[in-house]
Parts: sequence; C-alpha cells; structure tokens
Amino acid sequence: MRSKSEENKRKTVLITGASNGIGMEFAKLFAKDGYSLVLVARSTERLRRLGYQLQDKHQLEKVSVITADLSEPGVATEVYQQVKENGIHIDILVNNAGAGTHGSFDETDLEREQAIIELNINTPVALTKHFLKDMKQKGEGKILNVASIVSFMPSPLMAVYGATKAFILSFSEALSNELKGTGISITALCPGGTNTMFFRRAGAAHTRAAHGNLAEPAAVALDGYTALMNGEVKVVSGLKTKLQATSSNLIPDTALAASMRYQMEEEEGDWMQSKL
Ligand SMILES: NC(=O)c1ccc[n+]([C@@H]2O[C@H](COP(=O)([O-])OP(=O)(O)OC[C@H]3O[C@@H](n4cnc5c(N)ncnc54)[C@H](OP(=O)(O)O)[C@@H]3O)[C@@H](O)[C@H]2O)c1
Repeated sequence: MRSKSEENKRKTVLITGASNGIGMEFAKLFAKDGYSLVLVARSTERLRRLGYQLQDKHQLEKVSVITADLSEPGVATEVYQQVKENGIHIDILVNNAGAGTHGSFDETDLEREQAIIELNINTPVALTKHFLKDMKQKGEGKILNVASIVSFMPSPLMAVYGATKAFILSFSEALSNELKGTGISITALCPGGTNTMFFRRAGAAHTRAAHGNLAEPAAVALDGYTALMNGEVKVVSGLKTKLQATSSNLIPDTALAASMRYQMEEEEGDWMQSKL
C-alpha cells in the first residue's frame, strides 16, 4: 500500500502568488506533504529559488514555474494552456494572488483598479473554469480561493479591493453548493490583516490596519490548508478575525463601513512622524 506522501507525489497543486506572503507558505505546506508544484507569479527568480529549495528538501516529483502577470486579460487561459502542453493535471488549484490599492475612490487610479479587478476576480474565475472542467472529468479535485475579512463588510479607502473579495466569497460559496456530490470541493479562506507585503504594495503601510495585530502568513496558510483538506466551504483565519466576521452579521453595514474606514486611515502619531 502506498503511503499518503507517495500518493501525493502523484498529485499536483497550482498556486498563484507563490513568490511571497501567504502563497509562499502554501507552497511550503504542499511541498511538506509531497505534492508536485506549479508556482505562478511575476517574480520568476523568487519562484525558481523557492521551487529548487522545496524540491531538494522534500524530494518532490516535479516543480514547475510559470511567470505570468495575472492582471492581464486572457492570461489565465495562457497559464492553463501552458500547464496542459506540459502534460500536467492539476489536482488542487489555489487562487491566492491578489492586490489592493489605498485611497479615496475619486483620487485613485482607474487603470490600477481595473488591473486589480482582473487579478482578484477575472483571473481566479477563469482558472477555476478551466481546471474545474478537468477535475470534473477525473471526478475529484480541490480548489482554494483566498478571500478576506473584508468579504464580509464594505471597505472604505480600499473600496474596489473589498468588493473583489466580497465577490470571491460569494462565488466560492455558490460553487461549493453546485459541486456537492461531485468529488470536488471548493473552499474560501478569509484572512484578517496579515504580516506580508500586501499593505506596503497597496500603499496602505501607514494605516491603522497595517499597524494592528497582524497574523503570521504561515498560520493563515495552515488554516486554509487544513480547511481545504477537510473540504470545508469557508474558513475565517484566527480568533480576532472570526469575532469580526461573526459580529458583521449583527452590526449595520454603515457602522461596519465607519469602523473599516477608521482602520484604513492614518494614525495621528504616524502622521506627525511622517511629516517630520
Ligand atoms: N495580507 C493581508 O492582510 C491579507 C488579508 C486578507 C486577504 N489577503 C489576500 O491574501 C492573498 C495573498 O496576499 P499576501 O498577503 O500574501 O500579499 P503579498 O505578500 O503581496 O503577496 C501577493 C502575491 O501575489 C502575487 N501577485 C500580485 N500581483 C500579481 C500579478 N499581477 N500577477 C501575478 N501575481 C501577482 C505576488 O507575486 P509577484 O509580485 O511575484 O507577481 C505575490 O506572490 C491576496 O489575495 C490578498 O488579497 C491578504
């Protein structure tokens, strides 16, 4: 009889946004359990280095790197075709890559926001469409979509980002119902503020949210990994985030928006410092 790790060696996971943060931690978790990896992001060298390290450490059957800007329209189909041309079947899809941008909507850059919609919505939808069809043919598979605590509430000063994450949660929960009894499960991971490059890249490093009690990406990824393996529909990562998600059902949306806005504003002390 084959061990679990031997079985996993015959399975492949595709992880988007594996070059950093939560996605990199996903790659480590899957590698530890023996899965072959397809790592996707823009930073080829970071992906290659991670791939070599993990393959060497865990004796993985196969590690592939795909360089792709997932905010470009149509790129998901190109990624899918590349995977097929290499004769790889994806058993697990992790739609993790994502980004946001901070600021008042009347001042933020429209092109940047449209790229974020492409990256956070259109790409995961298209990747899910392509790989799900193959999973259905095989009668098994798993998909993990990274949503957020802001999936549960309006997100002033990151309005577009928040709306993309509300989409992802709704999309995942709907598909999860459609896929009942097919052998395929889909799980949404909802992290709270996490200590990655996310806030800095979104131009939000100066906000209260970025200076709050941030979760570690390894812990967030482990929550997602465990929920995915258990076929759960959704997991909110961390106690504080769970409390926020639960209370979002009880608090009016206007009050949630006000509280989120406070979080997304600059702390006065920081403001003083940044002006000195
Ligand atoms: N950190 C938080 O507080 C937090 C909270 C809730 C949810 N999330 C979600 O968690 C997920 C992971 O974010 P993170 O916190 O780990 O952020 P991160 O450290 O900034 O990592 C983001 C990852 O996405 C990739 N990525 C970004 N833009 C891309 C593009 N155009 N094309 C391809 N790949 C791209 C990046 O790779 P390259 O730069 O190499 O392309 C990187 O690997 C995101 O979906 C985010 O929305 C984060």
